[in-house]
Amino acid sequence: MTTEGSVNGTSHLQAVIDSGVGQNALMATDPAQRIADLSKAIRHHNHRYHVLDAPEIADIEYDEMVRELEALETDHPELVQPDSPTQRVGGPALDAFSAVTHRERMFSLDNAESHEDIAAWEARLERMLERPPAGYSCELKIDGLAVSITYENGRFVQAATRGDGLVGEDVTANVRTIKSVPLALGEGAPELMEVRGEIYMPVSAFDELNRKQAEAGERPYINPRNTAAGSVRQKDPAVTAGRNLSVWVYQLGFITGGPPLESHWETMEYLGSLGLKVNPASARAADAAAVHAYLERAEKDRHANDYEIDGVVIKVDSLDDQAILGFTAKSPRWAMAYKFPPEEKTTLLEDIRINVGRTGVATPYAVLDPVFVGGVTVTNATLHNEGELQRKDVRVGDTVIVRRAGDVIPEVVGPVLSKRPRGAKVWKLPKTCPFSGHPIVTPEGEARAICTGGFDCPSRLREYLFHFASRGGMDIEGLGYRTVDMLMSEGVIRTPADIFTLDRDDVLRFEGWGEVSVTNLMNAIEGAKDRPTGRLLTALGLPLVGGTVARTLIRRFGGLRELFTASEEDLASVDGIGPEIVRSMQEWWDDPINRRLIDDLEAAGVRIRDEVTVTETSDLLAGVAVVVTGSLDGFTRDGAKAAVEDRGGKVTGSVSSKTSLVVAGESPGAAKITKAQDLGVPIVDEAAFQVLLAEGLDAVNP
Ligand code: IVH
Repeated sequence: MTTEGSVNGTSHLQAVIDSGVGQNALMATDPAQRIADLSKAIRHHNHRYHVLDAPEIADIEYDEMVRELEALETDHPELVQPDSPTQRVGGPALDAFSAVTHRERMFSLDNAESHEDIAAWEARLERMLERPPAGYSCELKIDGLAVSITYENGRFVQAATRGDGLVGEDVTANVRTIKSVPLALGEGAPELMEVRGEIYMPVSAFDELNRKQAEAGERPYINPRNTAAGSVRQKDPAVTAGRNLSVWVYQLGFITGGPPLESHWETMEYLGSLGLKVNPASARAADAAAVHAYLERAEKDRHANDYEIDGVVIKVDSLDDQAILGFTAKSPRWAMAYKFPPEEKTTLLEDIRINVGRTGVATPYAVLDPVFVGGVTVTNATLHNEGELQRKDVRVGDTVIVRRAGDVIPEVVGPVLSKRPRGAKVWKLPKTCPFSGHPIVTPEGEARAICTGGFDCPSRLREYLFHFASRGGMDIEGLGYRTVDMLMSEGVIRTPADIFTLDRDDVLRFEGWGEVSVTNLMNAIEGAKDRPTGRLLTALGLPLVGGTVARTLIRRFGGLRELFTASEEDLASVDGIGPEIVRSMQEWWDDPINRRLIDDLEAAGVRIRDEVTVTETSDLLAGVAVVVTGSLDGFTRDGAKAAVEDRGGKVTGSVSSKTSLVVAGESPGAAKITKAQDLGVPIVDEAAFQVLLAEGLDAVNP
């Protein structure tokens, strides 16, 4: 996002840096002076850290200063200032919030839902001003809770919610705990002012909070906005303090004794210079075209920040223009909120069903009254597992919040409890699989539930076969979902191995299948019998064993039996194979269904070991020096090295005149490539590297 000029001024604080308070400061012996110096320095570093996101010192140095200040204040309680950096959480929990009358009304904004709405607004402005506005300020519309913060002679004195716009609630004690809200402003602060801003919870803080909730088995929070609002509108400041809230200041309300200001932009620069946190993604726009470009950009980058936004706010920049335009009963005529399409909607949860996937895991999912959200119509959404479902406490009949943000999979966030029908029952995982009738079990200490039916479970078998035959697996053309379903329906295929013993007459009897299509399918199946064993291993779909891991393992062990009977040490010694992968393989092999599958595949003529393995050493590459740069598809760095060394060659880290060949994978190092070009060393790709390993240097570099 482009910004014209920074709105985060710091110059007023330069004096603090120059004064050298902190580590190397001359120690003031007068405690009052020392307290003042420390407070000033801590304030400065707070601003660097919480407002500008640009700390200058290590946390430990900062902590040291805070500890020193706390110690001094404990020894001299009479010297504690109300705006001391130590005074954020102090007040007791409240019984009720008292009312605060805003000195200037907190208006809300008119909404625009399309670029046309914005264009119509711009046309109205032009009519009223009898010329286009002198310019606009475009800002992100932060999705949080509006506050008005009052500063008297630079001191934080009060914070209030919007309320009805005229009277809000006093949330001073809570807002004080928010570290990006300065308790004391820098030089140039006016006598009195109210600034308006949005309190929000960073997405990262929200995710962390929900991670902790999950750990504690508690219900997750719905979204950052509600959580921020709830954290400010509860009675215990210590709770607010623990929520990692932050603020963006976006408007000046009432002010006396401030400098002359001509535009909103200038006003924001002024607020930034006082140490308030103004959003750097704001931009000035000279005309309507620039406004529309900003809108498009902001919407495209909607998820680029660590805070949620629900639109863009466009403000006529000139304060004179604003004065001419004035207000309607509820909102300024000089500002407009452009709202993005919502990413959360509510809908009815009609049913909870389970799905058994290719590994046998039974996963509950929600059947929803179709709802258009985040650009797609959502009819189903995963509920992950029973534990998660119970934590969220969603029940059939609930009105639920459905969220789809960006490209993320749609999710049921939680129920709207106020709309829960009477008698809605807590959902329980069925004891038997609805597809196979076999028991569903939840292994000790695990979240996932498993159908014990093995390949007798048609849901599991279907998912398994589909994955097995897919492009990334055995790549059997023509064996997609529909064909798999068809062949399963008559019991022609009961296990993955049955694919390879398929009788053409069994297929021919299905409607729509003739000699030609059956021959094509049979040929595709026949061809798949001889796939490299790494592909077969990928197709078997062991958790954590994807294409790269599978190829690495087969290159090392040659075949499936060798692999599955290898010792734990041998497995763990392979580069890139960690304990989790080893465990996954052991678990898989421990299951008799899987052992049987390997037997059956082998009996059906499927290749389960590769003819050529690279473990034998030779002198094919004697005297050859290779440099590998960038990542290769089929090799880890160590794997490539081992393959060259097994053939008597050498792999070195840098290119020199002695280098025979540079192998460039994905994202190769620019310096190595340039050096090779300069020295005239041939640069080849991964395919050529394979040729090198198989046939030697002459085959690559004649
Ligand atoms: S200006 C008189 N600027 O959106 C102008 N509001 O729907 C007052 N909001 O109540 C608002 N980001 O809570 C303004 N950059 C921004 C904003 C913003 C979020 C909120 C604010 C306001 C609501 C209006």
